[in-house]
Formats: sequence, structure tokens, C-alpha cells
Amino acid sequence: MIRKISTKALEVGMFVSDVGRTWLNHPWKTKSRLLTDRSEIDELIEFGIEEVYIDTGKSVKTSQAAPKPKPALNDIKHPINRPQPKKPAPEPTVSMELEFPKAEKAYSKALDTSKALVAACRMNKRIELNEVQDDVNELVESVTRNRDALTALIKLRHFDDYTYTHSLNVSVLSISAGKTLGLTNDELKILGLGTMFHDLGKLRIPDNILNKPGKLTDEEFAIMRNHAALSADILTEQNLNVSDQVIKVARSHHERIDGSGYPDQLRGEQIPNLATICGLSDVYDALTSDRVYHKGMVPHDALKFIYSLRGTHFQPDWVDRFVQSVGIYPPGSVVELNTGHRAVVMEVNNRSLLTPLIKIVADPHGQLYQRIKQVDLSKPAENQGWSITRVIPPSEAGFEPSDYFSFQAE
Ligand SMILES: [Fe+2]
Ligand SMILES: [Fe+2]
Repeated sequence: MIRKISTKALEVGMFVSDVGRTWLNHPWKTKSRLLTDRSEIDELIEFGIEEVYIDTGKSVKTSQAAPKPKPALNDIKHPINRPQPKKPAPEPTVSMELEFPKAEKAYSKALDTSKALVAACRMNKRIELNEVQDDVNELVESVTRNRDALTALIKLRHFDDYTYTHSLNVSVLSISAGKTLGLTNDELKILGLGTMFHDLGKLRIPDNILNKPGKLTDEEFAIMRNHAALSADILTEQNLNVSDQVIKVARSHHERIDGSGYPDQLRGEQIPNLATICGLSDVYDALTSDRVYHKGMVPHDALKFIYSLRGTHFQPDWVDRFVQSVGIYPPGSVVELNTGHRAVVMEVNNRSLLTPLIKIVADPHGQLYQRIKQVDLSKPAENQGWSITRVIPPSEAGFEPSDYFSFQAE
């Protein structure tokens, strides 16, 4: 018999037949599950799920509950191995208004460094490690103050050259995901450096292969695949004073848990955690970026694709946490509400990815408001029955979403 019960009344041994939400907005891979561990109930509560459906016919007594079929993420042995938080990322300590101009400065500076880095490698000159380290430190500090300012920025800046922005964007996404995953600032700095360097090896791949508009031949693809090992080689040749983990992020960012990746065909636990975060951010940025030959996907579609790689290319828990970090509607997205109003997403709500903090900027006729209303969709007191129905490409928005992030500079 199917029964609706309060999440708080759940017990180990009960069979949840439906959590009542789409996969985007609950912590599990599937909507049904036999509860075998108290932590599964805590996850639902932390995601703000108040009621679920249970199937009493499939439920068993607590003592008969089957053991967990797979190890929890915190049981897996990795160089950086700590219990992964089952709770949302910490609340920002600085508001978006105050952090955004600082994030802009940090990003522009890091973009200049990214260009200098590419130029140095092209001319076989020495990499200015101190500059990259300083920039990464500033990115980490910005993310620590307010995770969403930099991620909004990378969504809003769509005019820069992919060659320079890709590594920087992967760095921002990785630091942000790392923060959600509970990494320390020292680990975030290692991750930030490794991601900034992750594709340097591409500078040694012939241009006709690197920029080929069509599909690569098997031979060309084999050459292209060398870039990850070449990135690590460049760092080793330069004899930079960086930790081995930085070099491993660069070398292993294309490894996949089923052994289908490269260059070392690592499997499962052999892949360093930080390289996994870099790999997820790398796929996401590549899918969502506009390139010369194609338009980038909207985040929702990119995350759906990444979700399809769950369990084959990437550890399921890492995919879940990555989705949680990026948000279904990342800051800077333009969305339409069920009333026809148009809004800009300002901040992700990690507890409920479908109800972010938004600014309602246009009425159902597309008329822009003079007075902008900020609404936290997750708060019943503020939400007057609004829900997001679709994402609107920025080019069709009828306004410039970045205008709503232009706060007074300090
Ligand atoms: Fe790569
Ligand atoms: Fe990449």
C-alpha cells in the first residue's frame, strides 16, 4: 500500500516509493529506495523534502534492512579523503552586491594572467607561478566570501576568447564545487592552480587538429588525447615549485571511472579527487560555452548530459554534488516564471535547486520594471505562487542580465 508520510517519521527499513520531486531536486539517483541508513533520511530532510510516499508492501523491519550496496563516498580512499558534507555549502559571508565588483576585479586580473600563461608556454618561456598563485588565492577568497559572484560572472561574460577563458572558468567552477564539497582553502588553492594549468598541453597540439571544425579522425583524436599528459610534462619541465597534486589534476582530468579515459586509463578510486572535480567542470564549461562553430548548451541540458555519465564516467556522488554546486539555474540565468514574468537568477539555493533567489525584472508583456523586486523563491512568505517554467537564452531576454549585477563599485 502506498502511504504519504512526513519525512521526519521515516525509519530505516521503510521503502520510499516516491520522493515527490524530479531528480534535479532531491539527493538520490532514483526516486525510490529501501532505506538502509539513517543518513539517507537526513539527506531528504536537509534537502527540504517534507513528505514522501512509502510502499508498505516493500518495506521491511528495521533489522531486515539490506546492507548498503556500495561504499559511501567517505569510505573511498583518496589522497584527499574526508567525510563529504551532506549539507549545503555555507551561507555567504558577504552579499552579492558587495562581492560582485570584487569578483569582477579578480576575474579580469586572472584573465590577463591566463593570457600571459598561454603566451609564455607558446614561446617556451618561464611560467610566472607567483602571479598565477596570487590570482588563484583571490579567486578562492572571493568564492569563500560569496560563491555565487564569480559563477554569475562567468555566465554573464560571453565575449572573451575561449582559449583564455576556458581554463579560468574551469578553475572558478572547480573552486566553487570544491567549496560545496567541503575542501579546505589549501586544497582549493591546489585545485585552482591545477585547473588553471589543465589544458596547457593543448598548446603543443597542431592547430589544424585543435581547431578542426568537423569530427576528428581516430589518428587525430589520438594526438589530441596527448594534451593531458603534455600539460603535466610542461609543469614538470618548468620545474615549478608546485605540489604533485597540481600536476595530477592536469594529467588526470580526462580519466573516467570505467577506465575509458586517458592518458593512464585509471579506474574508480585511482583517479585523484581533485582531478575528478576538474573533469566535471571541464565537461560543463565545454558544453555551455559558445564556440565558433556552435552555440553552448543551456546549463540545464549540460547537467542532464553530465548526469547521464553518472556511474560510468564519474562517481555518482561527485556528480550529485557538482549539480548541487552549479545549480539548475546558475546565477546570471534569465528565466520565465509561470506568470510570464521574466527574472534574473541571483543566487543558488543549495537546499532547493529549483527555487533560487531571483530579481523579477519584466512583466508578462516584457515591459521592464523601474523598481526591481528581489524574491527568494524558496521562502513561502516571499513567493506568491511563482515557479520557474523555462530558461530564456540571454539573446532573447529583451534586456542585459549583467545590468542587474552592476552594483555601485567601491
Ligand atoms: Fe582537457
Ligand atoms: Fe579543458
